[in-house]
Amino acid sequence: MALLRIRGFEVHKSYLDPAAQTALVAALRPVLKAAPLFSPKVPGGGQMSVRMTSAGQFGWYSDASGYRYAETHPRGRAWPAIPEPVLAIWRDLTGLERDPECCLLNYYGEGAKMGLHQDKDEADFSFPVVSISLGDDGLFRIGGQRRGGKTDSLWLNSGDVVVMGGDARLTYHGVDRTRFKSSRLLPKGGRINLTLRVVT
Ligand code: SIN
Ligand code: MN
Repeated sequence: MALLRIRGFEVHKSYLDPAAQTALVAALRPVLKAAPLFSPKVPGGGQMSVRMTSAGQFGWYSDASGYRYAETHPRGRAWPAIPEPVLAIWRDLTGLERDPECCLLNYYGEGAKMGLHQDKDEADFSFPVVSISLGDDGLFRIGGQRRGGKTDSLWLNSGDVVVMGGDARLTYHGVDRTRFKSSRLLPKGGRINLTLRVVT
């Protein structure tokens, strides 16, 4: 385990050992069964290359009319609860009494990526966002508080956890690419990223 600080983000390398990663994937299986992955549309038209779903009271959602949190999966059912081992990571790294209300699960299949963006659909930016990486390596890019300007990149590997909080809560970030099938954690390959957010 090693802690790096990059542009205000705390990067906990290898926070989860291989056994903990396997246990976490097992805990996510019922979530994926109850709330299947879907491909969100984006406001400008078009579709995100990641597939996603959520657990918790709220799920992050996007369609032609914009980005928001929704209380139900697109198929109409409430989102499943956030698994305990996921909450344990949040509690350990943030030390907060308050639990997250959304665990967004992004799945990066071959060729999927995510453009630079801020996480700003939440009501209170004093709470951090905690990001957990599982499966294939992802090239994570970190910018500043505004669009444009210099960025730094680092590879996030399976088991790494990033805390995006404090002055860096609104820092631009994205995933340029993954190394498809670089990990054998997920039987069909791919990368899962979980982001935990306090929403209201
Ligand atoms: C996100 O910003 O929602 C995802 C970040 C990641 O996949 O590492
Ligand atoms: Mn984000």
